[in-house]
Amino acid sequence: KYWNVNELHIDENYPAIKEAAEVLKNKEAVAFPTETVYGLGADATSEEAVDKIFQAKGRPADNPLIVHIGDVTQVKELTTEIPEVAKKLMDKFFPGALTVILESNGACAHNVTAGLSTVGIRMPDHPVAIALLKACNLPVAAPSANRSGRPSPTTAKHVKDDLEGRIFGILDGGPTGIGLESTVVDCTGEIPVILRPGGVTKEELEEIVGTILVDPALLDKEEKPKSPGMKYTHYAPNAPLWVINGDPKKIEQQIKSLQHEGKKVGVMGSEECIHELKGVITKSYGSKNDVKDIARRIYDVLRSFNEEDVDIILAEAVPKNGVGVAVMNRLEKAASKILITES
Ligand code: TXA
Ligand code: MG
Repeated sequence: KYWNVNELHIDENYPAIKEAAEVLKNKEAVAFPTETVYGLGADATSEEAVDKIFQAKGRPADNPLIVHIGDVTQVKELTTEIPEVAKKLMDKFFPGALTVILESNGACAHNVTAGLSTVGIRMPDHPVAIALLKACNLPVAAPSANRSGRPSPTTAKHVKDDLEGRIFGILDGGPTGIGLESTVVDCTGEIPVILRPGGVTKEELEEIVGTILVDPALLDKEEKPKSPGMKYTHYAPNAPLWVINGDPKKIEQQIKSLQHEGKKVGVMGSEECIHELKGVITKSYGSKNDVKDIARRIYDVLRSFNEEDVDIILAEAVPKNGVGVAVMNRLEKAASKILITES
């Protein structure tokens, strides 16, 4: 079922929202837009419903799901305690692109948390998501609505391309705003820890809680990540992807040597970089000077290479400031090779 809800005023009484909420109550899976990426939702209290998410995505069972709520008061219905630091973060970033990890009280089905004692909770900042969550009045487990391993969906078309025939329906609310997933923060210890960089930056979190740590696995590939999902290769297009430093000269050298080997090369990069390149398929992810815009476009660009006849994709690295940190995290996860050729 396909519902177009790409309209200005959507609330829990809107007919398509009421219908989709009934579908969720009937333990079926429905994709819906959030401000970060599209999510694939199901009743978090039902093992049977949640299993449909894992089946549709082909998701490994050891990777827990984020539980979405339509009202902050629902947090206490899912957790044993809410530490002070979590309260501060939720005050500021709920609704928003932040997921807090808290001790679970077992209210969710055990496959939601993949056997962990903790649960990830997020209140999305999107009128369609909030309307749906209010209308069904359930905690809704929702990972990104892509096939496991593929880039997360930022449009309803991406969801359709990946999951058509595998889920009950899609609510189409247009393209998502941020374009990258939420920041996942473990709030169960003394000092909060970023497990996955995302839409809310480290600097924004620090403003609220002072000190915040970063999971060592994000900085060193040899470390085991604390967030189970972070250990999987992800976001990858069909052709191998190499991330390279942005000096257009270095990219040109790479292109030449790959073409010499008879390879068809595609390049994704900033407008500033790709306009100088000749004889290859290029796709712009926006201006170097606007990392927010790059975040919005990056998954669509990654996906669009699957429609091109290329043997290899070179990606220009993104400046690691603000949300650029999260963009680079995704590019590095998508990459089979990272060439650091600092000039
Ligand atoms: O923006 C988002 O977060 C999107 C939208 C739909 O809300 N959702 C999303 O979900 O990105 P997913 O399943 O694609 O990513 C969830 C991440 C995974 O890396 C998972 O391992 C981690 O959060 N996670 C979930 N529960 C956790 C827990 N209890 N402890 C540690 N990590 C957890
Ligand atoms: Mg995902």
